[in-house]
Amino acid sequence: MHKPSLAFFVDLEPALEDFQDSVISGLLATPKNLACKFFYDDAGLDLFGKICETEEYYVTRTETAMLRELGPALAALAGPGCTVVELGAGSDLKIRLLLDALERPAQYVPIDISQGPLRKAALSIAVDYPAVRVGAICADFTAKIELPDDMIAENTGQRLGFFPGSTIGNFSREDAKTFLSGLRPLLGPKGALLIGVDLQKDTARLNAAYNDAAGYTAAFNLNILHRIARDLDTDLDPDDFEHCAFYNEAQGRIEMHLRSLRNQRVRIGERAFDIAESEMIHTENSHKFTLDGFVEIAEAAGYVGTARWTDAENLFSIHYLTIAG
Ligand code: AVI
Repeated sequence: MHKPSLAFFVDLEPALEDFQDSVISGLLATPKNLACKFFYDDAGLDLFGKICETEEYYVTRTETAMLRELGPALAALAGPGCTVVELGAGSDLKIRLLLDALERPAQYVPIDISQGPLRKAALSIAVDYPAVRVGAICADFTAKIELPDDMIAENTGQRLGFFPGSTIGNFSREDAKTFLSGLRPLLGPKGALLIGVDLQKDTARLNAAYNDAAGYTAAFNLNILHRIARDLDTDLDPDDFEHCAFYNEAQGRIEMHLRSLRNQRVRIGERAFDIAESEMIHTENSHKFTLDGFVEIAEAAGYVGTARWTDAENLFSIHYLTIAG
């Protein structure tokens, strides 16, 4: 049988030193922080998959159901022969729904920070969609990404960015604007962006979504400490911290933190960090938007809100943005 392969695989995976530098600069900051992009090693991805299946985390379920329904509308907007560029190749199911809906998609280019899971995900699409040219880029997509022109076959239809899951909420509102604006060259002047955006809602529902009873979100948050303990030269003990997540109404965002359970001095490489009992290390923001609030950000970033949809409960929204002409 023909062994599937990728049209290309660009490896710009951040080096271990980048992780160490990021951890050290985060722990030197006031308040201390750790970058949420480092949640997603194999164990973190596995835990995130489990979060997505919990009763409390409505995000994935709601967006997936919406994508299923929106298929024909998306196919009409995007036209035939699309090149789909996915930012953060997380959920296999969502990209499959999109590729199934589109008319003869020509290419699929996932971009993700973790090499192993990215290669696996890209290959599984290559196997199941033999008519689609699949190439992958392993890179930190929060940094500027250029899509190598010679790798993307020309004479295909529109370039369609796909950014599901409300990962845009993990940026500050200002950084979201900068990020979306920086994506425009990658999408090209006729490009479009299909983006999932979580909406503001009842605080109790939001708090529950980030404090699931099975403890997957807690384990996901603490996993970044396990990653530090495993990959860096350190005496840090993840058991000395606990998960803390709450909705900050003034900022319109869920905040995740790791709370220190005791006064401690943690060594990383040659450096030592004093962490007080109850001190919080900020690990993630997950901004929640109003529909108009998000469109305002998209417009400021140079897009036109061509279409938008919400589910019946107004939990989540999907936006089809085009480049302002
Ligand atoms: C990936 N991102 C959109 C998720 C979120 O909801 O902010 C990550 C996550 N953090 C805790 N649960 C899920």
